[in-house]
Amino acid sequence: MRVVNSPLALQKLLEEEQGSIGFVPTMGALHLGHRTLISAAKNANDIVVVSIFVNPTQFLEGEDLDAYPRKEEADKKVCELSGVDYLFYPTVASMYGTDEVSLNAPNIRGYIMEGTSRPGHFSGVLTVVNKLFNIVNPTRAYFGKKDAQQVMLIEAMVTNLFMNVEIVAMDTVREKDGLAMSSRNAYMNEQERTEALYIVKSLRVATQMVMKGALDIAKIKDEMLHVLKPLEVVYVTIVNRSFEPIDKVEIGNTIILIEAISGTTRLLDNIWI
Ligand code: PAJ
Repeated sequence: MRVVNSPLALQKLLEEEQGSIGFVPTMGALHLGHRTLISAAKNANDIVVVSIFVNPTQFLEGEDLDAYPRKEEADKKVCELSGVDYLFYPTVASMYGTDEVSLNAPNIRGYIMEGTSRPGHFSGVLTVVNKLFNIVNPTRAYFGKKDAQQVMLIEAMVTNLFMNVEIVAMDTVREKDGLAMSSRNAYMNEQERTEALYIVKSLRVATQMVMKGALDIAKIKDEMLHVLKPLEVVYVTIVNRSFEPIDKVEIGNTIILIEAISGTTRLLDNIWI
């Protein structure tokens, strides 16, 4: 495995490679969720590139940019053992200049839900993913459905900007008790970690309602909010797979999304029905 810090050096190295390139962009503190994306990239491509970059432009003022877990040595080992060919580890200064051309997330879909609670977050995500795609020029890029709105907006960017990359969306990897794996889970103490499970419970309640034929969105939301009461709920949103609001669950075309805070930890989860 080669560890490369310079964007231009990586671009040059990859231009010289033959075959398909599978790319997994991350912010590090790698867990089984990330490793699942890396395995999928490895299975379908000749070369695997992973980037680790805690991207400052997607963190808002007062968010956890400084506290975000950084585990350089452990992450390098994980990548090496997973058969990664190139690990891209850039500095902020090498990725961003001052007064740059910028990319904005689209208004409606970029700013509902997480976009409302974190204005500017998705513009930062799209900006960095666009830069990373230009450096790596991947055949396929792998993202988790856990960040459902992120995948949807990246797919929109690829379509809108006629980018030549296939986006692969992978299912959410969970802990044994159902909690969605996340680098931010490490922030929680035992009690907060236990309370976070109300998120999983609320998604189970919603699924059970749908299985019994209760498809009314308002009723499902009510039940979920009841279960989520011990947490600070940022949103519970039920939309179709184009992220448009709906009144009734359409089986095969519905996503239920939650953002809730346990202690001070912002947690995202969703289920695709
Ligand atoms: P990060 O949170 O490190 O996640 C990197 C990728 O791993 C994302 O595509 C995310 O959806 C996926 N992922 C995280 N937890 C997962 C889980 N439990 N199961 C499956 N996939 C999971 O998302 C980002 O970084 C950044 O916004 C990034 C795209 C790298 C841009 O900076």
